[in-house]
Amino acid sequence: MAKAKVRYTCQACGDIRPVAYGRCPACGAWNSYVEEREVPAAPAGAVRREGQGSAPVPITRVPAEGHARMTTGLAEVDRVLGGGIVPGALMLLGGEPGAGKSTLTMQMAAALARQQRTILYLSGEESAHQIRLRAERLSALDDHMHLLCESDMPSVLEAIRGLKPDFVVVDSIQAMQDPELSSVPGSVAQVREAALQFQQVAKRSGLPVVLVGHVTKEGTLAGPRVLEHLVDTVLSFEGDRYRAHRLLRTLKNRFGSTLEVGVFEMTGSGLSEVADPSALFLAERSPGASGSAVGVLVEGSRPLLLEVQALVAPTPSGSPRRAANGLDPGRLVQILAVLDRRLGLDMARADVHANVVGGLHMDEPAGDLALALAIISAARGVPLPDPMVAIGEIGLGAEIRRVGQIEARLHEAAKLGFSQALIPRGNLEGLAIPASLSVHGIGQLVEALPHAFPASPDADRS
Ligand code: TYD
Ligand code: MG
Repeated sequence: MAKAKVRYTCQACGDIRPVAYGRCPACGAWNSYVEEREVPAAPAGAVRREGQGSAPVPITRVPAEGHARMTTGLAEVDRVLGGGIVPGALMLLGGEPGAGKSTLTMQMAAALARQQRTILYLSGEESAHQIRLRAERLSALDDHMHLLCESDMPSVLEAIRGLKPDFVVVDSIQAMQDPELSSVPGSVAQVREAALQFQQVAKRSGLPVVLVGHVTKEGTLAGPRVLEHLVDTVLSFEGDRYRAHRLLRTLKNRFGSTLEVGVFEMTGSGLSEVADPSALFLAERSPGASGSAVGVLVEGSRPLLLEVQALVAPTPSGSPRRAANGLDPGRLVQILAVLDRRLGLDMARADVHANVVGGLHMDEPAGDLALALAIISAARGVPLPDPMVAIGEIGLGAEIRRVGQIEARLHEAAKLGFSQALIPRGNLEGLAIPASLSVHGIGQLVEALPHAFPASPDADRS
């Protein structure tokens, strides 16, 4: 009998080679190749199958059914998904162990079960008993929820054909296994094969499927980057064991925006939605402390208030340190350069630490002004006047540049009781300002100083 042909697949990126490499030429991972059986090609001389596929259709004849989305009723989840679950969507929910993926998917499933939809909750990792205990804790016991503890793909597919569910959760995709492949569960080959099979089921029968995927500490979806282009939506569930709140982000969405963020809090009875995340992120702020400023970011369609902290300390020896947590280190260096060249704030012998509170990431340049004021406040040891928010991007000439969605940001600030806002002067025109807020338009960074530090000598400099 002829020996089965083998090939080698990089477990990190899915690269395929005829021989194993010590280091993957495609992604640089070390010792990442695993032997696999080659997929048999059609035998030579076999009659080519005639396509039974579909004919091309003018795009205008394609029915515009507008995807009847299924809403879970969990507002944060629905919003992140772009308005609910699209039929036939294959979704991937990634997160570190303990993030709460099983909890979140169980709560989604329970919400749908309550709408009389048939749910298949498939677990390859936990026993039915463990899952029932979780479901009890989450008040998720419902006759429409069906459990299957199985990792064998043919059995799983058969169960789906038999039950005809409206929604399937696969917890986790790394536990699924196709006996046809000799590779171990969790390997690229197994994960990809299982995901492909779920994709076919999803597309063919319009069944939405959520695949839970474990993310390694390095932040990659364990092994298969291949999964990301196979699925319609990639969600990531972030947070850590030491903090109660969790963020649900969209990294990819064929059916909606990728900017939305959902905020949850882990409680004794599951995840509860945080309707007012700004209040949560500002909860631990100590007003009157120097080195702290409040900025307003827009995540997706929602404005979020967050605290930016800075600490300036003399450099013990050698070159000064710049540490950035929750923001781009390059941005911090750039703001420091602007402060040095344009405001004469000399930090050459100072370590600067900057931190965005609450595990959030400040990617938006609109946070620049808050960051700059937090640094100046830290350097001077003088706090900012408390109920003040600072909004604006800082250019290399220390000019304050316009930002988008200014009215939404100001309303959020007013809602949380802030009474003063520094905003780009360019944003003032035609602006409807909430009555409780006094707004100052800033053209150059130096003009912010008299407002931010009213008792300081530079109050009369501008
Ligand atoms: P889990 O959903 O099992 O995480 P994952 O599937 O991502 O690994 O749960 C994560 C943690 O949440 C776990 O340590 C227990 C805790 N938890 C609660 O605090 N309250 C709850 O109601 C539940 C179900 C879990
Ligand atoms: Mg789990």
